[in-house]
Amino acid sequence: MKQDMIVILDLGSTENTVIARQIREMGVYSEIHPHDITPDELGKLQNVKGIILNGGENRIVDGAAVDIAPSLYELDYPMLAIDHPTARCEEKLDRLPGEDVLRGFVFATCKAEANWNMKNFIDDQVELIRQQVGDKKVLLALSGGVDSSVVAAMLIKAIGKQLVCVHVNHGLMRKDESESVIRVFRDQLHAELIYVDAVDRFLGKLEGVADPEQKRKIIGGEFIRVFEEEARKLEGIDFLGQGTIYPDIIESGTKTAKMVKSHHNVGGLPEDLKFALVEPLKQLFKDEVRACGVELGLPANMVYRQPFPGPGLGVRCLGAITRERLEAVRESDAILREEFEKAGLDKKVWQYFTVVPDFKSVGVKDNARCFDYMVIIRAINTIDAMSATIERVDWDVLQKITDRILAEVEHVNRVCYDMSPKPPATIEFE
Ligand code: XMP
Repeated sequence: MKQDMIVILDLGSTENTVIARQIREMGVYSEIHPHDITPDELGKLQNVKGIILNGGENRIVDGAAVDIAPSLYELDYPMLAIDHPTARCEEKLDRLPGEDVLRGFVFATCKAEANWNMKNFIDDQVELIRQQVGDKKVLLALSGGVDSSVVAAMLIKAIGKQLVCVHVNHGLMRKDESESVIRVFRDQLHAELIYVDAVDRFLGKLEGVADPEQKRKIIGGEFIRVFEEEARKLEGIDFLGQGTIYPDIIESGTKTAKMVKSHHNVGGLPEDLKFALVEPLKQLFKDEVRACGVELGLPANMVYRQPFPGPGLGVRCLGAITRERLEAVRESDAILREEFEKAGLDKKVWQYFTVVPDFKSVGVKDNARCFDYMVIIRAINTIDAMSATIERVDWDVLQKITDRILAEVEHVNRVCYDMSPKPPATIEFE
């Protein structure tokens, strides 16, 4: 990393990511490190221009008062405490008064250069990946989601055909999703791409399974088995590419949140399949990952897509999955996405999708009684997916979507709109 860096030492504030982002938006790279970092560890970080101490109201971590190691105060870095500074730090506290304390500290005191941008970041990462990988090969599970797509594009730029992508179609993808992965990566970027059609295998394993946690475990576990089988067929792979991003790194250090749902990500490969990890996005926040994807030339609809859960439509086809209802989820989701795009809502709403429950209701079609499924539309806004509010979708837009679903999707006779915020509901239904 050739770029200047401001280090934020986390003394228990919840605002540190906000500050890191503010500094990055000024064009200066910033990283958050724990309060118990040692002088040695700090010394290994490159191009540190200054240090910010932030412990929020009271510098408490896990119920105990904390401070940084006394020897850190003796180091020759400009230091700014933006919480309640200790007497020790006050001696070094930057006195540039005014609203723009951060900007003053970063540029006037630390003399950091504003050289953090995606072009420089990509140049750095390409060089680092080439150094790390040499002439070896890297394997990547390419789901087509934002993170794995951007990692793939970065690795293609750095090592071309030394990257082997595996795309597993588990039958729970959205309409046209696997096709677009093939179109972009195999046809346009000329990636080495192995496409695995595992639709029957996944749907077979899921047959008759109604419990949401069991469904998630089957999908996640089977995914690893399919990926492992492909990995074993390949020779000479030493590395595994992963779409780890900066929030994953920060959260894994301090995570206290209780598990509500088991999340599905690639990991948990067997012990004897040992790969070193290549994680070129691990310094980036989500919006920076998107900017990186754009800079690498990925299509906007791939980079700006809404989040999609690892178990895919499997958790939106409620209860035991059947092909009939899965098709109804896929088709209604495609209609919803098309109409949201036409109405400009795709740029406004954080996440929107349809679900199909596993029970039927009575209706009337062609002057006769029918007994069919319902589609539920969900559209939510959130900052961090921990809580969410619903989008008040325009009535006419909802009416159009409803009409289209009722006319175009088979086995559906009713459309509902989910009004529930998170909490108490979660964003997904399972
Ligand atoms: P919930 O339903 O827990 O969802 O309110 C919060 C966000 O996480 C997404 N989600 C997942 N993402 N793997 C993922 O990568 C998963 O297994 C998974 N399950 C839920 C969900 O779409 C929402 O954005």
